[in-house]
Amino acid sequence: MESTTTNHLLLLLLFFFFFHCKLTLSISLLPKQALPTKSGYLPVNPTSKSAIFYLFYEAQKPTSPLSQTPLLIWLQGGPGCSSMLGNFLELGPWRVNFRKTPDQPLMLEPNPGSWNRIFGLLFLDNPIGTGFSIASKPEEIPRDQTKVAQHLFSAITTFIKSNPSFKSRPIYITGESYAGKYAPAFGYHILKENAQWPESDRVNLVGVAVGNGLTDPVIQVATHAANAYFSGLVNERQKHELEKLQTEAVALTEARNWSAATAARRRVLNRLQNMTEFATLYDITKRAPYRNDMVEELLRNDDVKAALGVKGSVVFEVCSDFVNEILHEDMMKSTKYMVERLVKESRVLLYQGVNDMRLGVVPNEAWVKTLDWEGIEGYLGAEREVWRVNGELAGYVQKWGSLTNVVVLGAGHLVPNDQALNSQAMIEDWVLEKGFFGSALKKNLSTNYPLGPMQI
Ligand SMILES: *[C@@H]1O[C@H](CO)[C@@H](O)[C@H](O)[C@H]1NC(C)=O
Ligand SMILES: *[C@@H]1O[C@H](CO)[C@@H](O)[C@H](O)[C@H]1NC(C)=O
Ligand SMILES: *[C@@H]1O[C@H](CO)[C@@H](O)[C@H](O)[C@H]1NC(C)=O
Repeated sequence: MESTTTNHLLLLLLFFFFFHCKLTLSISLLPKQALPTKSGYLPVNPTSKSAIFYLFYEAQKPTSPLSQTPLLIWLQGGPGCSSMLGNFLELGPWRVNFRKTPDQPLMLEPNPGSWNRIFGLLFLDNPIGTGFSIASKPEEIPRDQTKVAQHLFSAITTFIKSNPSFKSRPIYITGESYAGKYAPAFGYHILKENAQWPESDRVNLVGVAVGNGLTDPVIQVATHAANAYFSGLVNERQKHELEKLQTEAVALTEARNWSAATAARRRVLNRLQNMTEFATLYDITKRAPYRNDMVEELLRNDDVKAALGVKGSVVFEVCSDFVNEILHEDMMKSTKYMVERLVKESRVLLYQGVNDMRLGVVPNEAWVKTLDWEGIEGYLGAEREVWRVNGELAGYVQKWGSLTNVVVLGAGHLVPNDQALNSQAMIEDWVLEKGFFGSALKKNLSTNYPLGPMQI
């Protein structure tokens, strides 16, 4: 009898031990406080099972009633990369711990620079086939920006309908890299739809923000040689070699030979990578690439997937080569004309981390100055303000009317990864039109900028 009691006790102990282990494991990877407010799937049309996966985080400390609190939508680039990368590596409320040593376990940590401090934040895995989004048939995956925008529009209208208080909230579309295509395409589609509906049925789009974007590839691809040369990374002979490759990419784009043009652009960047041998052209100050691998590890964990409401047994890929390949012919097509409409009918923020040698300041400056927009002269003639956050130099802001461009210091391609707090200050002030991002910014030369000692 005694021995059975002991056995029972042992079993009970074992049970608690395993239960505890499992619990601590899932707690340590995705703490309760890190759970999204809502998550799930948004259909892309009424007739298919394809759906966009979303995670929504409500504002942590809203400064207005929720029905008036801005809502940011985040779109990752790639094409084919999951917005979970933005969430868990860049601007979400909890990020991976960027393991300093290989033996340190993967964990999530609160992000003081989260973009949902005072705004709602919605991550969409776009297009379908990316991240946890579902493509019921490969043929349903978009091959161009028109289709991408239709799917996103369907998803956002469903999302808004899911909660009556969402309807009146100001919406901002944000994203980076290939979202330099998605965000303008989505915004443009909303403007076109809104024009056909009474005010009460419109999507309350206020602005579009793009970081280190690809928007007008034919102009952007032609800047790499000069950018690398004047940054001291290649010599004149190498510059000529890169120029030759760029010229091919431009010619193929102008001939609308889209597939060959995409391949030609790839050759330019591969050659530049090969000449310079940086760990990553996305940030030439880094000794190793960005830690996408940690996000992949996190989201392959079954407990984490279950907690996020992921259906089925999908193996998470941080970037899908399959989706990337499907958009191969879209790569060199421009969305500049969409930005031209958005800058007239909404607000536009462009920002670039300076250490990005692929889609940084120079390739963006090049297309922005060609904008067909009545404000372009004003923009090009505007002061480039020195931007400070809590007194510290953070970068430079140039603003005219509805267009703002920010150069972010100390950052590469993934600005919120590299400068979390400054990126938060930037997005908050831009949305709220405060400080350096306000409409009445005037430099007070007489007092704010004392001259230093004279130098010979
Ligand atoms: C596109 O460019 C490739 C490479 O230059 C060439 O082989 C191909 O014939 C071109 N296609 C068309 C339709 O012009
Ligand atoms: C890259 O550089 C190495 C030598 O440094 C060379 O062998 C290789 O062919 C180059 N690859 C490309 C794609 O240029
Ligand atoms: C500039 O700053 C000084 C001192 O702070 C203030 O007296 C002056 O009114 C300011 N000028 C403008 C144009 O704001």
